[in-house]
Amino acid sequence: MWNERYNEEEFIYGTKANDFLQQVYQHIPAKGHVLCLAEGEGRNAVFLAKQGYEVTAVDMSEVGLTKAKKLAEERGVHITTQVADLTEYDFGTKKWDGIISIWAHMPKPARERVHQQVVTSLKPNGVFILEAYTVEQPKMDGIGGPPASKPEVFMSLAGLRQELSGLEETIGVEKQRDVQEGKMHQGLSAVVQFVAVKK
Ligand SMILES: C[S@@+](CC[C@H](N)C(=O)[O-])C[C@H]1O[C@@H](n2cnc3c(N)ncnc32)[C@H](O)[C@@H]1O
Repeated sequence: MWNERYNEEEFIYGTKANDFLQQVYQHIPAKGHVLCLAEGEGRNAVFLAKQGYEVTAVDMSEVGLTKAKKLAEERGVHITTQVADLTEYDFGTKKWDGIISIWAHMPKPARERVHQQVVTSLKPNGVFILEAYTVEQPKMDGIGGPPASKPEVFMSLAGLRQELSGLEETIGVEKQRDVQEGKMHQGLSAVVQFVAVKK
């Protein structure tokens, strides 16, 4: 499904990094190693590489990550890409200074496994940054997010606090905001934003 969606010249989420990531990325220790989960066409990975981080982008879509490599080359930065299903991906132990999860929606058991791995694979002082749609999103005017028929795929602040209880929360908020990301994410949207640090 994602390979088909990405199989066009246009970057469907645009080439500009996610707004929330741009606001908070400096929580991640400077020049650290950052893992971008479900990174798609690479806009966030390329942004972080531009800021001096060593970036690895993982996604199940090889078409998306091929576009990510192309974007990195165009912008004159290096990113490492790995085509993998995050439900089987080995995150390592105390390996990352930062992990980024932007619209990385997946079924609850998969998400819980991924979040467990986030906790164990962050180094001490490593930072996790997430933005996701909440279950309110299908009622909003904005375009984007999982279908209303899959409520368990949305995220909530309460759920994140539970799944990521091994981290210390720095920012945790559910809010509505205008999202402008390519043709796929447009308009007033219901999101959860989360930043937490490994102690
Ligand atoms: C809404 S897109 C977001 C892409 C990117 N994070 C961004 O903000 O531009 C969701 C991405 O999640 C990826 N994805 C979904 N489930 C996955 C899984 N189990 N393993 C790896 N990638 C997955 C898809 O391939 C897709 O690129």
